[in-house]
Amino acid sequence: MTGRILGTGACVPSYIMDNNEIAEMVETSDAWIRERTGVVRRHIIHEETTVSMACEAAKRALTDGAVKAEEIDLILVSTVSSNVIAPCTACEVQRELGAVYASCFDLNGACSGFVLAYNTALAYLCGGIYRTVLVIGSESLSNLVDWKDRGTCILFGDGAGAVVLRAEAGDAYLPVTHSDGVKGVALACQSRLTASSEKCWDHADYYLKMDGQAVFKFAVKKVPEAVEEVLEKNHLRKEDISWYLLHQANQRIIEAAARRLREPMEKFPINIQEYGNTSSASIGILLDEMKRDGRLQSGQKIVIAGFGAGLTWAASVLQWP
Ligand code: UT7
Repeated sequence: MTGRILGTGACVPSYIMDNNEIAEMVETSDAWIRERTGVVRRHIIHEETTVSMACEAAKRALTDGAVKAEEIDLILVSTVSSNVIAPCTACEVQRELGAVYASCFDLNGACSGFVLAYNTALAYLCGGIYRTVLVIGSESLSNLVDWKDRGTCILFGDGAGAVVLRAEAGDAYLPVTHSDGVKGVALACQSRLTASSEKCWDHADYYLKMDGQAVFKFAVKKVPEAVEEVLEKNHLRKEDISWYLLHQANQRIIEAAARRLREPMEKFPINIQEYGNTSSASIGILLDEMKRDGRLQSGQKIVIAGFGAGLTWAASVLQWP
């Protein structure tokens, strides 16, 4: 068995914050942010929440795939930044959609989250356990970012991306997944529920802390390795791959990965200029954009690859239906 993508959907907040607005809050400039990250603007929540964006992206994916809410067997949401801890975001999506027969849970895979959720969905589909699965990555990183820290606040944005998958006959591609908890300190954020004598809500540990250079070096090495590994595991050659959809973390990371893989940049679509780094939402948003503008053609093989907090990294191959 394998899983076929029936539909895609995305949702980003309506408020757009450009680099100049960030330069009013911290010592930076539009030129620096563009040059070092590729980001020009990002969408930031005002009225929206992680749950509301997940619901909207899910509705759009179901409409796109002509799938009814009652047909969904599993809703899987990847998020590290939900406005709800319990019930899980996936159950909130279920309630909103009326997906009464779905089993629901969340997955914390940070910027590898979309790939990890996709792999988890595929395992259930291939195991014959479920027939129809909704996979969503939804993040409001603006809630976790320290808006006084120019090392992080320039990079991230909010949004959600979703795909709906159905089991079908055929062979699934094998995924590649790795974790290295020893290096987790490079990108970390404490829960605001941490037991502490200092119950101070603006304590620095409660914001996302990142050793940008360490994460950058890790990504530039591990992402191409994971891509090579997933190709070898599935007996595929680079010529077989039409697109490499990498987590949109930093344009320079994507360019470096392309160089290391000796593949042309044309095969690495980029939309970070519009959304910033949306963590587990980024690949879903990009897939939806490419589907809608006609870049994805039937039969194309696509590598998706994510990396981030954990540290974690993962790659999978999918064939566009
Ligand atoms: O999503 C998953 C995980 N996250 C990532 O993949 C992020 C990976 N890391 C990065 O994208 C980059 O490391 C950043 C964009 C976060 C930072 O870029 P960088 O090129 O690594 O900058 P840096 O930290 O090496 O800093 C270079 C210089 C420093 O000045 P000096 O010491 O050379 O005088 C910084 O103080 O740039 C300075 N700087 C800034 N200047 C203007 C750092 N941040 C800024 C800023 N504006 N926002």
